[in-house]
Amino acid sequence: MSLLDRDDAALAGVSKLRFFPLAVTGGSGGWLVEEGGRRVLDLSAGWTAAGLGYGHPRIVEAVTSALRDQSGASGLSAVNQHMVGLAEDLRRITPIVAAEPDRRVYLGNSGTDANEAVLRSCRLATGRRRILAFHRGYHGGLGVAMGVSGLYVDAGLPGDPDSTLLHFPRRPDEVASVLADLAHELDAADVACFIVEPIQSDGGIVIPPAGFLRHAVALCRAAGVPVIIDEVKVGLGRTGLLHAFEHEGITPDLVTFGKVIGGGLPLSAAVGPKSILDVAEATSLLTTSGNPVCAAAGRAVLATLEQDELPQRAAVAGKRMLEALNADRAPGQGDTRGRGLTIGVDVVDPLTGEPSPLLARKVVYRAHQLGVVVYYVNGHVLEVTPVLSIPDDEIEFGVDVLHTAFADAVRGVISDDEVAPYTGW
Ligand SMILES: Cc1ncc(COP(=O)(O)O)c(C=O)c1O
Repeated sequence: MSLLDRDDAALAGVSKLRFFPLAVTGGSGGWLVEEGGRRVLDLSAGWTAAGLGYGHPRIVEAVTSALRDQSGASGLSAVNQHMVGLAEDLRRITPIVAAEPDRRVYLGNSGTDANEAVLRSCRLATGRRRILAFHRGYHGGLGVAMGVSGLYVDAGLPGDPDSTLLHFPRRPDEVASVLADLAHELDAADVACFIVEPIQSDGGIVIPPAGFLRHAVALCRAAGVPVIIDEVKVGLGRTGLLHAFEHEGITPDLVTFGKVIGGGLPLSAAVGPKSILDVAEATSLLTTSGNPVCAAAGRAVLATLEQDELPQRAAVAGKRMLEALNADRAPGQGDTRGRGLTIGVDVVDPLTGEPSPLLARKVVYRAHQLGVVVYYVNGHVLEVTPVLSIPDDEIEFGVDVLHTAFADAVRGVISDDEVAPYTGW
């Protein structure tokens, strides 16, 4: 039986998000090896969790050494050198809000739990309940983090009852009204925190107009409301700077990290004021938080980002890739934008120019047939987020395949029936 058939029979649908038949048996750098031996270029980098590439030698070394002489498995009731070192590293690289210089670090297993922990800590620390977030935002797939994720709420799933979602501005002319709405919500004086992605990613790679986040943070500060920046998907180098929020010239009160920080292992983190993260001991407990093997991977990731200058390389590679994607627009390829190696490509009906989810499904399906892994978000936006060190020849190959996939999908190479089993999201 093939891996895909075995998966079908054994794994639960609740955690499946499938776009084409991808069954993997290995991987190295930016490439995955499929069952049967074909290599495919992963332009998603595993939804950015493999930002440093698969099987990175420094991660392999750090993990092997931490596992060989394993200083525990849980950081809950025993500290270990890797978790403490990682927390110190994160404090060092995360800018300080002048009013709150004393900070603490939460360690967890996924972006979802990092957001969950800070959202709940803000409620406990402020004694207020309401959370302000955004339509089409994404902060997690469980609990409060899910309940304030506009993507779910907008799709009709029950949101957190004590949350208010604001419109996330795309165009400069929308900024003033969103800021007025935010000011109005803050006036109610019942807000525990404000959470936002520096680039709305699963919502369609939406880069907010310049100045929006700066003004939003200023309004929250004036109201005494903590600001959480969710750097889980685009943080740690991907946008061309270490922190995506640095593009906006802001310093958040709390920052959450995930995905790339684990070097391919499950790891997440949050950095924030002691006055929030220390206020209610033992209220966000996961047995394997502070796990020394994952923390060692995290330390290796942070060291590699710095030593290999990966944010700078992502800036250069991202510019090159965006230019190549835009140089020779394919039919059905709409607005193509990005910041560093966070690139969004709209898939549109070539006749009407309107977003086309069906064509998006066919483009990613065809790209996989041609040797490239890329997924779509928000129904019709290709999310191109390759490994941060992607070399020029892989950029060329990837862009070439994407352009061909668009052209093939538009001329009907992929039938509706072929993509029918892959509803994605
Ligand atoms: C911005 C953002 N926050 C949080 C999460 C949740 O992270 P995880 O799936 O690791 O729990 C994601 C996942 O896509 C994300 O994009």
